[in-house]
Amino acid sequence: MTARVDPQRLARELDTLATFSDEPAPAVTRIVFTDTDLRARAYLKSLCRDAALSVREDGVGNLYARWTGTDPHAPAVATGSHIDAIPHAGRFDGTVGVLGGLEAIRALREAGFRARRSIDLMLFTSEEPTRFGIGCLGSRLLSGSLDESAGERLTGGDGRSLNDARADAGFGDSLALVPLASDAYCAFVELHIEQGPLLERAGVDIGVVTAIAAPSSQRIIVEGEGGHAGAVLMRDRHDAFLAAAEIALGVESAARASGSDDTVGTVGVCEVFPGAVNSVPSRTTLAVDIRDVDLARRDAVLERVSAACRETASRRGVNVRAETINADPPTRCEPAIIEAIEQACDARGFTHQRMISRAYHDSLFMSRVAPTGMIFIPCRGGLSHRPDEYASPEAITRGASVLADVLARLST
Ligand code: GLV
Ligand code: MN
Ligand code: MN
Repeated sequence: MTARVDPQRLARELDTLATFSDEPAPAVTRIVFTDTDLRARAYLKSLCRDAALSVREDGVGNLYARWTGTDPHAPAVATGSHIDAIPHAGRFDGTVGVLGGLEAIRALREAGFRARRSIDLMLFTSEEPTRFGIGCLGSRLLSGSLDESAGERLTGGDGRSLNDARADAGFGDSLALVPLASDAYCAFVELHIEQGPLLERAGVDIGVVTAIAAPSSQRIIVEGEGGHAGAVLMRDRHDAFLAAAEIALGVESAARASGSDDTVGTVGVCEVFPGAVNSVPSRTTLAVDIRDVDLARRDAVLERVSAACRETASRRGVNVRAETINADPPTRCEPAIIEAIEQACDARGFTHQRMISRAYHDSLFMSRVAPTGMIFIPCRGGLSHRPDEYASPEAITRGASVLADVLARLST
């Protein structure tokens, strides 16, 4: 049996999905539970129904589209990713894993394959932290990594609670029903663009992920003293923004001091209050993202950032408070799935290399409930989270073909 992915069908569907955006092409903005997100979900559901998959959605909007196997009670195999997109993003992050997963299932069916285990296509809600401040919301909840009551306390940047937002979007079931049974899945495999330059630079077709970095994010709130930009003397100031700026530089030096390329630190949000040209900032809020595949090294960076906060607070006479949003451990991919991916590449004549994932993915949380693997494909210039993100149809087809072969092997 050779599963033949249909590159035109897949490209057409990726094109259509990209039209569901709150920004004009080539930018894509698709924030969870907006009308745009709901229209994109409706499109995906129509494709799943056309493919005769049975669709179920849970209370946070995770979607399960099942191709039932000949042994429907055996733990199933799953694939999938996300379709939400951060503001001003591109069109391949997540979507390649969702539509590529669907295409892999269709290709298997069209090749006459009969799976023993059921195969599920999964769409995870809000892999991106844009609206509720925390990434991998759906996969955190279904893996029990975020409990129901913590989920219920989440509120979006727009002031609407997760509970209200999901109810408005038509997802009224209790969050208590979201966690998966520990034997629901015997394997999970996610196809994703690399979001980095290594595969393209090496001229390699497929990245076989061995581990996913440990992400952490925190909010740092600096409170100083506001006042008139003309009248407050420089020597009397306790400027919250300038203190925050020092802390941001402290994040950079803490990450650089680790000595490893696998350590990264970013300050991606800086909100200055009151935000007027003639007003000394009284409050500044930073959002800080620190990651590493090595948990101890990641935590050492967090500790250096805390020290920078304490030092700046006392020297500048400001108050600094840090709130942890998440500090997740890294994960290792399942050796048997790594080998299955490599064998599928060899059988198709695709070059491959092992690599870590510096970005986080729903796989990080799926690995807590099922043996997990990830297939990376190259993306142009390694660019992601920006409108010029691009993966070629050939690369996407290779990735979906390997995924089909791995799903066949794992579901037999
Ligand atoms: C996912 O989008 C990440 O930030 O790694
Ligand atoms: Mn992303
Ligand atoms: Mn992604």
